[in-house]
Amino acid sequence: SENKLQLVHRRVRAFPDFPKTGVLFRDICPILKDPAALTAVIDLFEEHVRKKHEQVDLIIGLDARGFLFGPLLAQRLGVGFVLIRKKGKLPGATVSVAYDLEYGKAEVEVQEDAVAEGQKVLLIDDLLATGGTMSAAVELVKKQQAQVLDCLVLVELKELNGRDKLKPHGVFSLLQY
Ligand code: PRP
Ligand code: HPA
Repeated sequence: SENKLQLVHRRVRAFPDFPKTGVLFRDICPILKDPAALTAVIDLFEEHVRKKHEQVDLIIGLDARGFLFGPLLAQRLGVGFVLIRKKGKLPGATVSVAYDLEYGKAEVEVQEDAVAEGQKVLLIDDLLATGGTMSAAVELVKKQQAQVLDCLVLVELKELNGRDKLKPHGVFSLLQY
């Protein structure tokens, strides 16, 4: 596993001052260009899930980079994949949750028929920063009376304390900065 983590670690780049001054942006795009690194990501998530959770019904990915990894993990586990999208992108009946950004507000949505009452779900995204996006996703799943087993991310930015915002839900991250 240490080996797999190394494959992933060396495919994450840092860009200073993106998208604005003072932010060190962690870029996961090189992982997607390297089949061995991408396989390692899914292997590590799969190992964690099989060890920690007896039953998983659904993987739910967050717009947009959660969509890159979620379906691969779902297929490995033999379960379905559902999208949580930014407002206005999903047709039909939807449920939404608004949350605060640094400046202003954002809203995430899921299709009403996508998650059933009592289902055990895993949330997945590329990165946890403040945890605002992931918290809104947790609220959305709760609105559907489903159960969040765990929140999975490739990268966790520790100094922003997103993990605390998500309590009592657990966060599993592959890399911490
Ligand atoms: C990034 C990242 C997470 C979120 C983390 O997405 O992919 O979804 O921000 O930040 P938070 O923990 O402070 O909420 P971004 O908003 O850049 O949108 P994108 O996925 O559409 O690029
Ligand atoms: N990388 C990618 N997405 C992000 C970051 C980052 O460093 N911070 C907040 N969202």
